[in-house]
Amino acid sequence: LFSWFREMLDSRPVSQGGEHGVEVFGYADITRILADTKTFSSETARKFNEPHFELDRFNEGNLVTSDPPRHRQLRTVISQVFTPRAVANLSERIELITGTLLDKVADQDSFDLVDALAFPLPITVIADVLGLPIEDEPMFRVWGDAIGALDAATVPLDLLEGEVGPALHEMGEYFLRHVRDRRQNPRDDVMSRLANATIEGEPLTDGEMIGVTGLTMFAGHATTMSLICTAVILLDQHPEALAEVRANRDLVPGALEEVLRMYPPFPRLVRVTTTETEIGGHPVAADELVTPWIGAANRDATKFPDPDRFDIHRNTGGHLVFGQGIHFCLGAPLARLEGRIALNMLLDRYSKISVDSARGVEWENPHQIICPRRLPVRASR
Ligand code: HEM
Repeated sequence: LFSWFREMLDSRPVSQGGEHGVEVFGYADITRILADTKTFSSETARKFNEPHFELDRFNEGNLVTSDPPRHRQLRTVISQVFTPRAVANLSERIELITGTLLDKVADQDSFDLVDALAFPLPITVIADVLGLPIEDEPMFRVWGDAIGALDAATVPLDLLEGEVGPALHEMGEYFLRHVRDRRQNPRDDVMSRLANATIEGEPLTDGEMIGVTGLTMFAGHATTMSLICTAVILLDQHPEALAEVRANRDLVPGALEEVLRMYPPFPRLVRVTTTETEIGGHPVAADELVTPWIGAANRDATKFPDPDRFDIHRNTGGHLVFGQGIHFCLGAPLARLEGRIALNMLLDRYSKISVDSARGVEWENPHQIICPRRLPVRASR
């Protein structure tokens, strides 16, 4: 994927005709697209999908696929309960969860980092924040995969009629049960605050509730999991950087930003044109699917000199990993906090932790999400 990004950045920074519509690779073109929400709409789901009850119900409250003014209303609901301050207060809880997960593999000198930490950490934290029982985790896994499938602009009908539709249905009913419960018996959890939120004085509809809660639950899962894994992989590949980070933990946040720049969990976003326009001098018709490859923009040499070099001291400001503009990721502070705690705790517990390539690292489809499915590591104390 990364060599293809390089090839496209060098030869065809705007390209048309493939399954992803108009594909855009350059930093300047992509930031222009993300800023111009009038011409480049996020309402791809409504535009490209056949009507489908479960999908449409979820999308009613899915702010990622909404435009203003609706987007602003939905975003206000989540951002009121999910403030950076509320997230900062989660440190202790996240440390406790990370410690408990690592205790479970304390007697093993080789384990799968995905199973041991990267998968369960973000799902346990967010279930905890929302106030949902972690015993429901097996179901969360199935629903998380279903939501992952919605990331494509067009969700094939046979997928919806196969696994994804029923999973969305179960997930919707599950969240609605919790919402009704919290409306009657509010507790001190984010689910209660979401359930009792209003838009212009009105309670949220069922669909809006499902989208808002489902997105809060799952948007940060595979992505944070990816950050934890790719941090371990990149530092393992760069022993000098690892030694520096070990010796000076103030370098952890910068190192994680560089990990994100190089291995963005979501390599691409989707938009649809509302009128005829142009991108980088190329004419583009109305109603066209547009795919900004943010993973490529993060390796555009006009923005990041010597972009394929992993440099924990580089200025990563302006990277597009969390998007940009009105849809900028609401979970960025939480993802960064979990990444910092996970990496610091791994470095505290182990004097050496390295990827065990012989036991086979497996990746998800990198065109959708850059994230290992399996990451065997060797660890010594
Ligand atoms: C939006 C990436 C973690 C919740 C986004 C967008 C990106 C992104 C690229 C913008 C989508 C667009 O413009 O079309 C990431 C990455 C993460 C991460 C790389 C981890 C490393 C999280 C977490 C949560 C979360 C932990 C919540 C618990 C959201 C929400 C939105 C969003 C609610 C929608 C914002 C909007 O449309 O206004 N994320 N995310 N994300 N993210 Fe994240």
